[in-house]
Formats: sequence, C-alpha cells, structure tokens
Amino acid sequence: MTDLSRRSFLSAVTGAGLMAAAPKSWAAAAPSALSKFGGDWRLGVANAPAGGYAPSALTRLHGQMPKGLSGTLYRNGPGWFRYGDDVTGHWFDGDGMIQKYDLTAAGVCHTGRFVDTVKHRVEQKAQAIVMPGFGTKGRADTPVTSNDDVNAANTSVLRVGDELWALWEGGSPYRLDAQTLLTRGPKTFRDDLKGMAFLAHPKVEPSGRIWSAGFMGARAWIWQLSPSGEMEQGAIIDLPAAGYAHDWVVSERYLILPMQPWVAKTRTPPFVDTLVWEADQPIRILVVDKTDFSKRRLYELPAATYFHTGDAWEDRDGTIRFDVCLAKSPQFGATGARDLVKGIYKGDEHTEAHLALITLRPNGKAEMELTTASAEFPQTDHRVQGLRHDLVAHVGGYLKDRPGAHMLSTHNWRTGKSDTHDFGHDAIVEEALFVPRPATAGGTGKEADGWFVGTVLNLKAKATELHVFDAGNLRDGPVASWRSHHATPLGFHGTFAQT
Ligand SMILES: [Fe+2]
Repeated sequence: MTDLSRRSFLSAVTGAGLMAAAPKSWAAAAPSALSKFGGDWRLGVANAPAGGYAPSALTRLHGQMPKGLSGTLYRNGPGWFRYGDDVTGHWFDGDGMIQKYDLTAAGVCHTGRFVDTVKHRVEQKAQAIVMPGFGTKGRADTPVTSNDDVNAANTSVLRVGDELWALWEGGSPYRLDAQTLLTRGPKTFRDDLKGMAFLAHPKVEPSGRIWSAGFMGARAWIWQLSPSGEMEQGAIIDLPAAGYAHDWVVSERYLILPMQPWVAKTRTPPFVDTLVWEADQPIRILVVDKTDFSKRRLYELPAATYFHTGDAWEDRDGTIRFDVCLAKSPQFGATGARDLVKGIYKGDEHTEAHLALITLRPNGKAEMELTTASAEFPQTDHRVQGLRHDLVAHVGGYLKDRPGAHMLSTHNWRTGKSDTHDFGHDAIVEEALFVPRPATAGGTGKEADGWFVGTVLNLKAKATELHVFDAGNLRDGPVASWRSHHATPLGFHGTFAQT
C-alpha cells in the first residue's frame, strides 16, 4: 500500500525539479508590491500576526443578533505569505489560519490562530519560504518525506465531534481543538493510509456520513467515514483522466467527479506547472455508485474549468443535477493567484466563473445551463446535502482594478429568480454560509428559512466585517453587521456550528 500514500502532488513537489533554487522574480517583485501595502486590496494577502488574534469583541454597526442565531463561524484561509522579500509562489500556499467568530445574543467575538503544521513550523524557524506547494517550488535542501510535511492546512474546515479539522487537499486533515484552536496533529485513518490526500471539500450526508476523495493522477482514493470521523471503508477508483479536481459532488446514491481538461502531464514542480489546459478536450464527469464503486457512468461536456461545485440531487427518473461555477480557462489558478501574493492584479486577464447547472440524464446525455451571474464560493443548505435544493448562494461581481467579489447573491433554480446585495467597491466579499432557523425560534425546516452569515473585508475601514442576512431577502441588505478590529487575510471556506 506504500504507493497509496503518495499522490501525484507529492511526486511533483519532490521531483527532480525541486533541486532548482527559488525563482529570483519573487524577490525582485516583492519590494515594489510591499511598498504599496496599506488600505488597498493587498490587505487581503498581508501576513497575519504570527501569534494569531487574541479574543476581541466586534463592534456592532447596526441591527441585533436574530433570535435563534447562535453558534460559531469557523473560517480557514492562507494567513502567512512572506518573510521579508521572500514571497510564497501562490496564494494557495499561504499557511493555514483559522478565524473563529462566536455569535451569541450579546454580539460577536473573534479569535484567530495558525494551524501548527510542519510547514508553518519549519518556515517560521527558517524565516523563509522553503517548502514546495501548489505553486511554490520550494528549496532543494528542505527534506520532504510525506505529503503532510508540505501540508498547508489552509483551505477549509470540517467540524467532527469536539474537533475541527483544517483541510488541504494533498494530505491529511489537521485536527484542532474546536474551542481553543490548538493543533492536535494530522488525522491518520489507518496506518497504511498515513498522509493520504483528503479533499478540502468533503460532503456530509443528512445521515452524518462523510465522503471525501484523494486524487493521485488518474486514480482517486474514495473515503467513506462515519459521522464521528472514523473510516468505514475506502478504495481506489480509476479516473478517465488525470484532470485536476478541487471539488466534487455527492447525491443520494452517487459520487460525482467532474474531471476538467486541466491535466497533469509532467512531474516537474511546482504542482500547478504540471497541469496543461487542453481546451479541445471535454470535461469528463464520472458518476460512481456509492454502494458498488465498479458501477460507473461517464458523461462529457465541452471544455470548462471550475474550482467549486454547489450540491447535487437526483430527480425521480434518475436524472442528476448539480450547481457549479464554471470558467473558460484556468487562468486564475495558473497565474492570477500567483500574482496576488506579489501584489499584482491583472484585471484584463481575469477569467471569471459563472454559475451553471449541469444535468446528467439516465440516457447518457449531459447538459449545461450557464447563467450570466459571475459566481464563486457556492453554498447551499447543508441539511439536505445530496438531496433536492432550489437555492444556491454565491459571491460575484468583479472589477478590473482589484481582485475579489463585491456582491453576495442567491439564485433559485426552480423560479429562475436571483437576489443580490452589492457591498460596493470598497468591499471584498467572502463565502457566506447558510444557517437554518432552529425550531426553538420558530423555524419551519424549509429551505431559505434561516440566515446567510459571512465575512467581508472592508478596504476603506481596513477591517473585516461579519454580516447576517435573512436568507430569503438579500436585496435589503444585512439585518445585522459587526466590524472586527483587524483586517484578517482573505480566507477560502468555513463551517457554522450551531449551538
Ligand atoms: Fe475550495
């Protein structure tokens, strides 16, 4: 099973190309970029304090905490990018930092802490970027023996029992104490699977069962975990191509893996440089039966690229549908997100993604319904993950002079109607999560009976804000808002634990 613990990512980052020194261009580009840091978008890719953020109460801007809204918003994202002029090679390679927002009737309290990864520890000690990553070559004299040596634990979080798992995609979940955010270490599901890749986008069925995958070139390891996070079963499946997949979807009966034609062709690090965009190739969507991984169907649609899916469901006739944010090329992941950490944004080159619904028919035909809404970070009601949903929330609205979305929207697939709040050009809008209104507060259990809770980096105020929306009414703006004392680095994904 030794080879199972090695993903193509590790092959790439530990390959012969690692012997090369870090590109001189990083150091050359950094000073001018750093000199401009201040009240602009680059706040979002500035280092957080090495010691994290001590607990502090946010300042209420307006409104009151809605009755029944209580719990913790955990968010993960890269929080450390540079040591002097030595800059990480890609936004996706910043060290993982957890932001924790506790919501009570009294208001919102924030704290933040870096995940204590091997990578973070080694680089803080060296005061240099030395580990290879998604878009970082690393240094030749840095020993890398396992996926978890380079694990940035910076992409998302999953609450499992009293633990919070900080997720990457090329290595193990990192276990944290959900209250203190102190790191307990990588999660090992089975000794022979130590360090095996685990997606940052696991899917949790209404039953609590957890599904994840680990991609290894043209194969994937499928994880099936109990609600308490222990392994129920796992197996390798063959994929139609070694296409990059950051996210996937799971319906009631199927695992659905969209394999985009952004395909690993070499093993020369960094990983993103092994990927070749094949615009003449289809996006291949593999559908695997949850109860028998040998039962599989393959669908094809014209070339498209994506980072994030929403959720999937099955119609009565077996038709599968899922929402996804599709772009025409992987420009942002390949180069745009590399430029960001150097303080560069080329708005003219930005290829924004749009909200789409993909339909997979029982007769083998696939359809793509592409909307005109620019969209990222799609979110649905997780109570019905894998089951029918109408509503998907997403960020959107992009500008030429700075990265990041400035709007939060919902789209209803049944009615075709959208709803949007525009935070304006001084705001970078982060992922918003649906939180259902509990029955004790009069909740009906229906979709959209609840709130969207999300964060926004206010560039003018140089501070991160937390906003609460009525899920069925974004257009009237947030029902309550609070402002932090800090401008925390832009994050990727979170989870909300209701209390
Ligand atoms: Fe993601």
